[in-house]
Amino acid sequence: MSVSTGLAPAEFRAAMGRFASGVVVVTTRDATGTPHGFTASSFCSVSLEPPLVLVCLAETANSYAAFSSADGCAISILAEDQGDLARRFAKKSDDKFAEGAFVPLPNGSLGVEGALGVLECDIRQRHRAGDHVILVAEVTSLRADAGDPMIYFGGGFHGLGPAGPQTRGV
Ligand SMILES: Cc1cc2nc3c(=O)[nH]c(=O)nc-3n(C[C@H](O)[C@H](O)[C@H](O)COP(=O)(O)O)c2cc1C
Repeated sequence: MSVSTGLAPAEFRAAMGRFASGVVVVTTRDATGTPHGFTASSFCSVSLEPPLVLVCLAETANSYAAFSSADGCAISILAEDQGDLARRFAKKSDDKFAEGAFVPLPNGSLGVEGALGVLECDIRQRHRAGDHVILVAEVTSLRADAGDPMIYFGGGFHGLGPAGPQTRGV
């Protein structure tokens, strides 16, 4: 193992790829009502009371402006079989919502049908952090279903795999 100080972005990305995570699709609507969304792995729970989550969005994202002014968003936790959707929302395109089923939430954002969980959120805080913004959002309603999650690891999508001794309980 080597540790360096003058980190190259690719080196940093490769090291972060050793951290397994779930995958979410985050959506919102702009002032004209147009939906926007992106695939993200930088999602995590922040607080129980109030129920807060965070997700980080690159300043270079096409959806950055929409998320900079939106009041609310939807965060859909993807299931193992939703790789096509995850790839579509990870590309810069104008018709991300053309295929696939989406469920409108009361705040106007679109949840992904078939996702393991859908969180309806009010965006409470925005913190600039390097070349990203950290969106802190309060969950106002949710649904969560049983099923197998999509796992992002080493730059690829995976399933949970068979449960081994280390994966039973915490
Ligand atoms: C598995 C995966 C995880 C990603 N996680 C993030 C993330 O947490 N934050 C982010 O800004 N972009 C992330 N991306 C990249 C965005 O999905 C991608 O840049 C997308 O094009 C942004 O959409 P937009 O430019 O139309 O807004 C991720 C991509 C993949 C495939």
